[in-house]
Amino acid sequence: MDDSLARHNTGLMPYLVAASQILGVAALAVTGTWLSQYRGGFSWDGPQQFNVHPICMVLGMVFLCGDALLVYRVFRHESKKATKILHGALHMLALIISVVGIIAVFQFHKKKDIPDMYSLHSWLGITTFTLYILQWICGFVMFFVPGIAFAYKSRFKPLHVFLGLSLLVSTIATCLLGLTEKLLFALPEEYSKLPAEGVLCNTLGLLLVAFGLVMSYILTRDEWRRPPLPEEQALSIDFKTLTEGESPNEP
Ligand code: HEM
Repeated sequence: MDDSLARHNTGLMPYLVAASQILGVAALAVTGTWLSQYRGGFSWDGPQQFNVHPICMVLGMVFLCGDALLVYRVFRHESKKATKILHGALHMLALIISVVGIIAVFQFHKKKDIPDMYSLHSWLGITTFTLYILQWICGFVMFFVPGIAFAYKSRFKPLHVFLGLSLLVSTIATCLLGLTEKLLFALPEEYSKLPAEGVLCNTLGLLLVAFGLVMSYILTRDEWRRPPLPEEQALSIDFKTLTEGESPNEP
């Protein structure tokens, strides 16, 4: 397809992007309502320090990471540099917020003498978080530090893209495990009787899954990838030819 046509042919994408934002904001609002109405609100020093954990993880690792992945689909007409900076800035914010969330739960466990790292939630959570930090460092070095050869960047990019979506999926799976665990701790007798708090948290789980599904659909549509602007294509072919002596027609 002609590139300029491809840039405009976004079909259902704008509606799905809008749906993803509604689902993401709804998930955040339900998380905030749950923790403030049923779990005593937020504080860093008091017993509510735990509550900082879920809100930061949903905001940082689900919503902001998801939006960082969408940047390349949504900003199709802006320069690659501007889109890259926005992608990096959203990931920077996501990283800071999720580090606060992780510190909150470890500190809370320490103060309350609760054992660390025994649950499946904590194992999957720490694995996902460690991979996210590695992905962050490698992405920064490959795409922001000048002087990395084009050949390395283009070999690394498919892995970076694959890990980006996989980490969003495993973050959402981690949230579901964390939610279930918290409900079983907090409402050991009542959860099976379908109390309002249980219904609210189950709804939150469904919202997170729906957010993940809509995001995955948008991000796996090849035809919605951001096609290079004409000047970027020319520059990349020139650069490739100069640095590797490849024919512009090679992949
Ligand atoms: C709705 C979102 C979440 C809820 C309700 C939640 C809930 C919980 C609960 C109840 C604990 C304490 C019990 C345990 O250690 O398993 C915990 C700990 C933990 N969570 Fe989460 N979590 C959420 C999201 C996440 C995410 C997205 C990650 C990382 C990607 C994560 C990583 C961890 C880790 C590493 C611990 C272990 C802390 C320790 O052992 O001291 N959580 N979470």
